[in-house]
Parts: sequence; C-alpha cells; structure tokens
Amino acid sequence: MFARSLKKVISRLTYAFRRHHSYANDEKTITADEARFIAPLQKLFNCVCRGAIHCAQWMQSYLCDLLLMTRTITLIPGDGIGPEITDVVRKCVSALGVDIEWDIQQAGASVIDGEGVPLPQRVLDSIKRNKVALKGPVETPVGKGFRSVNVELRQKLDLYACVRPCKYYEGIRSRILNPHAINLVIVRENTEDLYAGIEFMESCGEDNPLLKFLREQKGVELGCDTGISIKPISVKGSERIVVFAFEYARKCQRRKVTAIDKANIMKYTDGLFMKVAADVSRRYPDIPYEHMLVDNMCMQLVQFPEKYDVLVLPNLYGDIISDLAAGLVGGLGVAPGVNMGDEFAVFEATHGSAPDIAGRDQANPTGMLLSTVMLLEHIGETDAARRLERAIAEVLREGESVTADLRPESASSKGVGTREMGAAIIDRIRTDAG
Ligand code: NAI
Repeated sequence: MFARSLKKVISRLTYAFRRHHSYANDEKTITADEARFIAPLQKLFNCVCRGAIHCAQWMQSYLCDLLLMTRTITLIPGDGIGPEITDVVRKCVSALGVDIEWDIQQAGASVIDGEGVPLPQRVLDSIKRNKVALKGPVETPVGKGFRSVNVELRQKLDLYACVRPCKYYEGIRSRILNPHAINLVIVRENTEDLYAGIEFMESCGEDNPLLKFLREQKGVELGCDTGISIKPISVKGSERIVVFAFEYARKCQRRKVTAIDKANIMKYTDGLFMKVAADVSRRYPDIPYEHMLVDNMCMQLVQFPEKYDVLVLPNLYGDIISDLAAGLVGGLGVAPGVNMGDEFAVFEATHGSAPDIAGRDQANPTGMLLSTVMLLEHIGETDAARRLERAIAEVLREGESVTADLRPESASSKGVGTREMGAAIIDRIRTDAG
C-alpha cells in the first residue's frame, strides 16, 4: 500500500519536473535582454530538472518495484491472434506467482485510425521506461502501406541482436530423424544489411543519379527498369553482434560459435563480416569457432543439425536461417525469440499475426509462452522460467490439450482451443512438484 502510494507521488513529481523543464526550455517566455542575464541560471535549472526527472524515473521503475517486489513490463498485445496468446501468457505468469505489472500498450494496425501511426511514441516511451517488453505480432502490409513496426522498434531502440533458440520438445512433430539432438541458437544482426531500408525504385527518368554513378564509377550498365537495394555492413555492426554471440555462448555454456555469410561473393560486405568475426573469435580462445558459407550451412542444417550450436549471421541470412531452424523443431508456432540491445529487450514469438485464424480460439500460444520463459530468465526469475518451461513441455509431450496445428493429421480429435491449452499449462504449473 505504502509502496503503491509512493509510486503515485513520484509519478506526480516526475510530471511536475517535466513541466518546469519544458517551461525553462521555452524561449518565448523571456525577452532577448532577459535571456543574457538568466541564461546561465536557466541552464543550471534545466540541469537540476533533468537530474530530478532521471532520479524520479529511476525511483519509479526500480526502487518502487523493489519495495513492491513488482516488475513493470510493457505488454503489446498486437494484431490478429496477438491478444489471444498474450492473454494466455498473463494467466500463466499470474499462476507462477511472479509479480509482474503489465503496462499494456496497443500498437499496430488497430491504432492507426485513432493515432495515425502504428507505433505511437507512448509505446517507445513505455519500453524505454520499463526496459523490457513482451510483444504480440503486428501486421505489416506487403509492398505498400506503413513501415514495419518491428523494423522501427529495432531501429529506434537499437535492438541490434535477434536471438532465436531452436530446441526440440518431445511430442512435437518434426520431419527430422533425430530432432532431440537439435539445440540451436540463432543470433541475427538486426540493424544493417539489406534490411537497412536503402532502396531505389526503378526509374527511367533523367534523374536517376544512381544508375549514372554506377555506369561512371563502377563500369556497370544497369537497365532503368532495375530496382536497387543497398547492403550496408559495418565493422561496428559486425563486431557488436559477434561479441554478443560469444558473450551469450560463454554465459550459457554453449559448445561453439559458427559465423555464417557469403564472403566468397560479397567481399566488401560479407567479407568484412567474416574478417571481423575471425578477429573477435581470437578474444574468446575458450569457445571453439568456425566459419561457414550460407548455402553450405542450409544443407548442413538439414543433414546434420546436431553438429551446430550458436550461429551468428548478418540480417538477411539470419532471417532465413532462423525460419529453417524453426522448421526443424516443429515450425513457427513453437519458436520463441527476443530482439535486444545493450539497454532494452523486446520478447516475441517468431510467427506473425495469423489473420486467417484470428479471433477463433485456434492460435497456438507455445511460441509466445516460450518467449515468456526467455523473458523470465532475463529478469532473473529463473525458477519461474524453469517451472513454466516444464509445464509447457509436459502439455506438449502428452499431446492431448494442444491446438490443432500440433496434432497429427491422422489424429481422431482435432485438438483444443487456445484458452484450453493455456488452462492445461496452468494446471501443470499448479501441480508442479519441481
Ligand atoms: P503468420 O506467421 O502470421 O502465418 C503463417 C501461417 O502460420 C498461417 O497459416 C497461420 O495461421 C499460421 N500460424 C502462425 N502463427 C500461428 C500460431 N501461433 N498458431 C497456429 N497457427 C499459426 O505469417 P504471415 O501470414 O506471413 O503474416 C501475417 C501478418 O503477420 C503479416 O501482416 C506480417 O507482416 C505479420 N508478421 C508479424 C511478425 C511480428 O510482428 N513479429 C512476424 C511475421 C509476420
């Protein structure tokens, strides 16, 4: 009670400091003459206000949470099946007894009419405040319409690493002979490469300077009906993702790190990634390292997936290989993930908003729940994470209270709804003896 009131008081104080800060910043409130005398005072006042705001925010998000034993986490239900599967997550977390206060923020197609954009600033502010978010899938129209919310989130919060574990759970159908041996973690670079959004539409007008540049500087003659995407890969971007992969491998006691690219063809981009990866690997002599070309990696993963452990890749190959790896262990419905940077982490399932089954109580909540397992680990709730993973694994192994996509086509019953699968997992959480 005391901590909740304290939180409210601090919230009011933050608001008051913000108002004074913006007042002090408002140049229209003083004349030029006055400005000369009071500018230094104003600067000092601004500094004090800024300090007070940071301090109040810190108290709000950490100190009060500590007193309350509550952690505030941003929850973006998302579009399509998003609200159904995030609802299951909330019920499971509550059954685990973890005190999480969900700061619910709507984003995606549903807010465009009201707010004009799919990712309003309030959503970014909430994640910046809470540092951690759980996100449902959001729609992105193909080839037109608004910019992908996912790409924007990654860029605005500098979520440079996408981590997708691909582990097999008993009971899930896999086409691989020995899926039990698969335990991969894909670490994908999130901000560079062909996803940087540097694209040029085909244009036969005189003003096509790019084609002119390519002709004059590179001796390359391209038809004006050619669309062009640019693939930037930097030393900084490559270094931080490879360091991330090695640090992850060390922290989670993984067997080895494999860097993947197409360095034999794209020498200045993938070649650079390969060189940086080799340089970084020398800083981690305790972790075995190897390099593979992406085409060979695809074949190796289908034939000998058990030979690989942590894979680190530039953006595009990472996107493709993570779907391939998810397919090995049962498909997108059971694949979790997180996009993270040095400050923020946004956890989400790999699958999309599945508009074809939205609102029908048919969505498989496993990917979202396994992302929640990762989230709980991230915030230090390791015991709760293990209990949730055990409960999911048991329900999957039994194979009865699972959604239709997890049932064999030959099965007599077609599976249960999203809510019922959630209830079965909650049952296991409650009866878990550890
Ligand atoms: P999708 O993953 O939504 O659906 C592909 C197929 O898998 C559909 O048949 C769907 O019914 C099924 N499926 C997906 N998740 C399922 C689940 N949890 N349980 C049972 N079946 C499931 O991919 P699609 O159709 O390419 O994309 C739909 C929308 O989702 C698009 O607007 C796309 O931009 C968006 N999307 C969003 C993502 C995100 O927010 N992270 C990721 C991928 C796509």
